[in-house]
Amino acid sequence: MADKKATLKIDGIDEALELPIYEGTMGPDVIDVRSLTPKGVFTFDPGFVSTASCESKITYIDGGKGVLLHRGYPIEQLAAKSDFLEVSFLLLHGELPTPEEKEKFVSTIGKHTMVNEQLAEFFNGFRRDAHPMALMCGVVGALSAFYHDSLDITNADHREICAHRLIAKMPTLAAMVYKYSIGQPFMYPRNDLSYSENFLHMMFNTPCEEKTVSPVLANAMDKVFLLHADHEQNASTSTVRMAGSSGANPFACIASGIAALWGPAHGGANEAVLKMLTEIGDESRIEEFMAKAKDKSDPFRLMGFGHRVYKSYDPRAVVMKQCCDEVLEELGLQDDPMLKMAMKLEKIALEDEYFKARGLYPNVDFYSGIILKAIGIPTELFTVIFATGRTPGWIAHWNEMIGGEYRIARPRQLYTGHTKRDYPG
Ligand code: CMC
Repeated sequence: MADKKATLKIDGIDEALELPIYEGTMGPDVIDVRSLTPKGVFTFDPGFVSTASCESKITYIDGGKGVLLHRGYPIEQLAAKSDFLEVSFLLLHGELPTPEEKEKFVSTIGKHTMVNEQLAEFFNGFRRDAHPMALMCGVVGALSAFYHDSLDITNADHREICAHRLIAKMPTLAAMVYKYSIGQPFMYPRNDLSYSENFLHMMFNTPCEEKTVSPVLANAMDKVFLLHADHEQNASTSTVRMAGSSGANPFACIASGIAALWGPAHGGANEAVLKMLTEIGDESRIEEFMAKAKDKSDPFRLMGFGHRVYKSYDPRAVVMKQCCDEVLEELGLQDDPMLKMAMKLEKIALEDEYFKARGLYPNVDFYSGIILKAIGIPTELFTVIFATGRTPGWIAHWNEMIGGEYRIARPRQLYTGHTKRDYPG
């Protein structure tokens, strides 16, 4: 029950409306506006800037203070002490695994890494130069066609198997997408390798030559996945929830999340950062692009800067920058001209009044693009990596919703079109 209430007086309605206010364990209170609908009034909040679409126990963000907690644990501590699969377990189950639970989880994920041979046939229907995200939307959605044994969404065991299958198969599909684009044979997963080692193995090894995966790169890859694992009710997660609210199967829901992630304002930003750096081309042109970013008549934005929620700094970016420095040093790439230019751009933007006044800081995508480039991942695949990392978060949110009380998501609108009129003649 709500202790606090808001009182709303609306012109044309005699009595004042009492709206319950709920308090979370942290963060802003929310006003329950559901009683407005019978009164014939809706709330108006394009972009959901002020709307809590659900109740959740998974991730908490304080954008003003640069705080990101998964199930209460700060992202900095998880990045330092945990790994991607452990964080996946945490997101799904609410607690860190015991050593036995972790071993079982890692082994279970390992057992689901292969995809049905028939799925490989799907790739031939795509052009080799298609964008990798186009293939990902297709092949992840197509998983729905292979697992009829676990599509009863009301069954918690079925939901768990789907979660394992999705987390396990995303890197396999991501690597297949890459191999298809360069015309190399698909590599089967190797279950003796860690999650990230296996991904790099499937990406960069060939049947004629299997090199040992560098532990530094595997570690950096794991950190990239971990830092993307969840981010509360962002556009793609909300899309997964919305698709799921109709009762759609989890593979279809995750495919819808992948589609939403693709855009440059969301997951596509990491790719856009590298494209922007290529376009800038040289340190001498940074000022010119800064001016474009500030010019309201120019649609150009500095990619990798700004965030809907973080208005001081993005805590993921802090960890990612550290990881970026380590990787570049390890690979001897500190003097790479594009990376040096990125660091100069970062410095200039951080000191710029326009950026400071609007709380525009480098976000996670600014540094992840640089790390991924150093690892050797092609730019077009960056958002696919983001999708792979975000999969446990998407499934955790879908599962939380389906396992609790929910209704089909059905927003309302402020209609400003024609009133009723007669067809001419
Ligand atoms: N470059 C220049 N100006 C910017 C930028 C930018 N990157 N981002 C925001 N602004 C300005 C914007 O023009 C506006 O100025 P004014 O108040 O004078 O009109 C002000 O800052 C607020 O921007 P907004 O568009 O109202 O903010 P938003 O919360 O709707 O958008 C954003 C957030 C992430 C879409 C936006 O900052 C952006 O387009 N950034 C570049 C794309 C990017 O890096 N996206 C990755 C986000 S992190 C990964 C993820 O979680 O998906």
